[in-house]
Amino acid sequence: MNFSRRDFLQKSTAVATGVPLLMSMDIDYCEAATATPPDLSMGFPENAIRLNWNENTLGPSPLAIKGAIAGLKEGYRYALGSLLAPLLADYHSLDKDWVLMGTGSTELQRLAPATHLNEGGNVVSSLETWAGGLRVAEHMGVDVRRIDLIEEKGFAYDIEGLLNAVDDKTQMFIMVSPNNPTGTSLSYQELKRIADSLPDKVLFVIDEAYADYLPDNWGTGIDLLKAGYKNVLVTRTFSKAHGMAGLRSGYGLGHPDILKRITQFGCGPASTSIVAFGAIQGALNDIGHARQTRSYVERTRKFYQQKCETLNLHSVSGPSPFMMIKTGNRTSEIQQALKNKKILVGNGKSWNVPDYLRVSYGREKENEVFFRTLATLL
Ligand SMILES: Cc1ncc(COP(=O)(O)O)c(C=O)c1O
Repeated sequence: MNFSRRDFLQKSTAVATGVPLLMSMDIDYCEAATATPPDLSMGFPENAIRLNWNENTLGPSPLAIKGAIAGLKEGYRYALGSLLAPLLADYHSLDKDWVLMGTGSTELQRLAPATHLNEGGNVVSSLETWAGGLRVAEHMGVDVRRIDLIEEKGFAYDIEGLLNAVDDKTQMFIMVSPNNPTGTSLSYQELKRIADSLPDKVLFVIDEAYADYLPDNWGTGIDLLKAGYKNVLVTRTFSKAHGMAGLRSGYGLGHPDILKRITQFGCGPASTSIVAFGAIQGALNDIGHARQTRSYVERTRKFYQQKCETLNLHSVSGPSPFMMIKTGNRTSEIQQALKNKKILVGNGKSWNVPDYLRVSYGREKENEVFFRTLATLL
């Protein structure tokens, strides 16, 4: 770097903040410092239409952004994520000891098997689903039993088949509702049927990353907790309806004994960054934002359904912010052709549905461009 200290001081916005301090410490930071903005493209081309990662393109609530910025200014401090537990407990009408913060809900999904499975046991879950903690279970050498969803019934869960796979060695039963990628959602009666069928020693993990998109009053795993089931762990996240995927803010809800066991390996007080700590408080003060997101997703789903009908394409979706579109044995070819045009979508083979594209709803313009382009590739 051929910057002189004077050049740097003239050009850098850092003059107003840290530079005088660094100068007084006689640190020659100029060799390393650059004025280049950070690259946040994640390796995707400029102006790419990113419909591949189930992100909420409406972004976070303005209050969450405000909270994040306030947190950023305190970035030199550690945050005590556990202080958020009472807020979330209030929000869900649970006791604060029943809440555990994680670096995204993924941390909890992965730690649940890591802390609750032993050699010789087995896990029961579905095949066409987000693998979350299942990879950890597989890595641990545990027998993972994955049951097909029923395609002829619109990818309904095969609850009978799942429960039949449970035996005296089963230690964990994992469901995703609403499911990724099919959108399949379990009713309270179905959840209760599963919970009632499982022996108390089996941990019933319910991944509810997309629960904020369900209609009001839809019974979820949280209602099982309120009904007194002590072997249930529900995971939730701010990544989806709250538009905070990059802030890595999730949490688990369950009996304190389950949560305590998880904290032996992670989800400690330092699992929440202070930026997320501020943002979560803002998001909780603006639940209307997540509701607006839900309305947007409902509208967009209808738009996608109409477009698929016009193009004579079969589609599968639920309340969650994405749709599976059947493109048969041309799926990978079409995905690549879209990618060549800087439109990124998921390939169902990642979730064992290779005949489908999985398309996350984007902004209105992006959705229109996607369908216009898809039409040219069929
Ligand atoms: C079903 C499901 N669970 C969990 C996650 C990840 O959530 P988080 O960002 O909270 O780790 C995803 C991400 O796409 C998901 O689809």
